[in-house]
Amino acid sequence: MTDALDDRIDALIRPQQVHRDVYTSPEVYRLEMKHLFPNVWVYVGHDSQTPNKGDYITAQIGDQPLLMVRHSDDQIHVLYNRCPHKGTKIVIDRAGNTGKFFRCPYHAWSFKTDGCLLAIPLKKGYEGTGLEDTEAAKGMAAVGAMHNYRGFVFARLAPEGIGFEEFFGEALSSLDNMVDRSPQGRLSVVGTPLRYLHKCNWKMLVENQTDTCHPMVAHESSAGTAVRIWEEMDKPEGTPKPPAMEIIAPFMSPYEFFENMGIRTWPNGHGHTGVHHSIHSDYSAIPGYFEAMVETYGEDRAREILGENRHNTVYFPNIMIKGPIQQLRNFIPLAADRTLVESWIFRLEGAPDELTARTAMYNRMINAPTSMVGHDDLEMYERAQEGLMADGLEWVNIQRLYEDGEDFGEEAVLNGTTERQMRNQFDAWKRFMLGGAA
Ligand code: FES
Ligand SMILES: [Fe+2]
Repeated sequence: MTDALDDRIDALIRPQQVHRDVYTSPEVYRLEMKHLFPNVWVYVGHDSQTPNKGDYITAQIGDQPLLMVRHSDDQIHVLYNRCPHKGTKIVIDRAGNTGKFFRCPYHAWSFKTDGCLLAIPLKKGYEGTGLEDTEAAKGMAAVGAMHNYRGFVFARLAPEGIGFEEFFGEALSSLDNMVDRSPQGRLSVVGTPLRYLHKCNWKMLVENQTDTCHPMVAHESSAGTAVRIWEEMDKPEGTPKPPAMEIIAPFMSPYEFFENMGIRTWPNGHGHTGVHHSIHSDYSAIPGYFEAMVETYGEDRAREILGENRHNTVYFPNIMIKGPIQQLRNFIPLAADRTLVESWIFRLEGAPDELTARTAMYNRMINAPTSMVGHDDLEMYERAQEGLMADGLEWVNIQRLYEDGEDFGEEAVLNGTTERQMRNQFDAWKRFMLGGAA
């Protein structure tokens, strides 16, 4: 980046507020695609989506079209979805099986599933032309680096940059807990995700994941109504809440509940709500599950795993996971004011199916386009995207429980209503926009 651009990015982030341009400016968005997304580790997909050789999915990091494929040696590869001949996208389906090789639909150049060039029709036309010295001869390009962490595949587009472990550090403990909840230590994706287009900037969704002062307000009309109907229902004393009510009622918890649940932040923009307890803490036990966990881990370790009830863990820049209910939400940027939200659910291998039914119910109730809850948030984001166009004010405030001299290089555990995690995200945003972790 030029010095002038550096100065411009620098000027957008202050310790307690961020300039509206970070959400609204197409130029800032373009710079995110060029500088932020390529230099960090971004989620691509789960390896259970490609169980067999030749299975692939299409994905993207920032605005870059990618595919993830299982090669003949069983390893996962992440490649740019682009023919080295004239640029045609090699595959366009969201998922499929390509067999032993990819074949470009334009002129039938073919590639092994690790991207290497396999064959070109009428190849003699290239004899003596120096094809081997061109980019095209290298085949489909791979991303700069990839890492499969317990089934979760991440990639960094840039060939050089921060390492996987260094980028995520202790934050990986949330992924560990989600996977450890399987008696077999393995998750698998269930079905296709719920996809929901939002007319707002992707960062609004990421910030919302640790925004604990909004549920009792923004969700009052949905969750509040459900709770009131349940309370007013004629029922015998001590009637247990049905599963749907167990899911929705905690959204109406008072401020004190969210203050006490705690927020933890880690370096590089990662963090989570629900350090001490969370809205997922009081779900009723599902018969047979604890027993299956004890069989694998022993009673103490099983209790330790299930006692961890983290709420939302943000993996900067753009995913969130919910360990206790096995979900992953991917906030995929499409434009400064357009974001595609994918909400995925996982099966805990070796656990009763009822757990999968509960996570599917949660996804439908909270995250679906037809959800009772998700559209409350959507309305707030879209109102904010429109409201930020107002010229009377230029800054967005993120200073709740701000402390002088905050050091985001250190892990911290704080009152659950702090906006420190949002500040942590913007600290990482600025550093990577300006050229990396250093
Ligand atoms: S563009 Fe792919 S073979 Fe020509
Ligand atoms: Fe919400």
